[in-house]
Amino acid sequence: MRALWLVLVSMTLATACGKQDESAAPATEPEPASVAAAEPAIDPATGFRMTGDWELVRGNCTACHSAKLITQQRGTAQQWLAMIRWMQKKQNLWQFDPDTEDRIIAYLAENYPPDAARRRAAIPPDLMPTNPYSTNN
Ligand code: HEC
Repeated sequence: MRALWLVLVSMTLATACGKQDESAAPATEPEPASVAAAEPAIDPATGFRMTGDWELVRGNCTACHSAKLITQQRGTAQQWLAMIRWMQKKQNLWQFDPDTEDRIIAYLAENYPPDAARRRAAIPPDLMPTNPYSTNN
């Protein structure tokens, strides 16, 4: 009987608090449903987009360096494969079985593809600072 009473009280409190939170929340523009649904959540620990085989990538790609090295990088499947081969050759990265490798690369190419918007045009030569190492001065 006592347990039931506690349950009822906590349910009432939870409801009351929920209502309070709602009214206290600042009025923000709700995100369009289509955008919100299309974007996967971001893992707070690694910054990885939590979709598909992200946990496989977390398990195999964060032992030696920060996940940020990955999330700030962009590439096609071929470019991601080249980075993996480079690490295998030079940085002691272990070999993957073909299925694991395919899944890791598919995740990377899908979530961190080449991104034209991140590139800027070259700075015109007349706006460049003087190069202290130049030999033509
Ligand atoms: C055995 C250790 C190790 C593991 C595991 C590892 N890496 Fe690396 N990775 C390195 C080292 C060492 C560097 C160079 C770090 C630096 O330059 O500071 C590097 C650099 C990188 C870079 C930057 C490359 C560049 O051109 O700047 C990316 C991207 C990257 N790793 C992605 C991955 C991915 C994806 C995985 C999982 C498949 C992975 N790493 C797993 C050791 C590892």
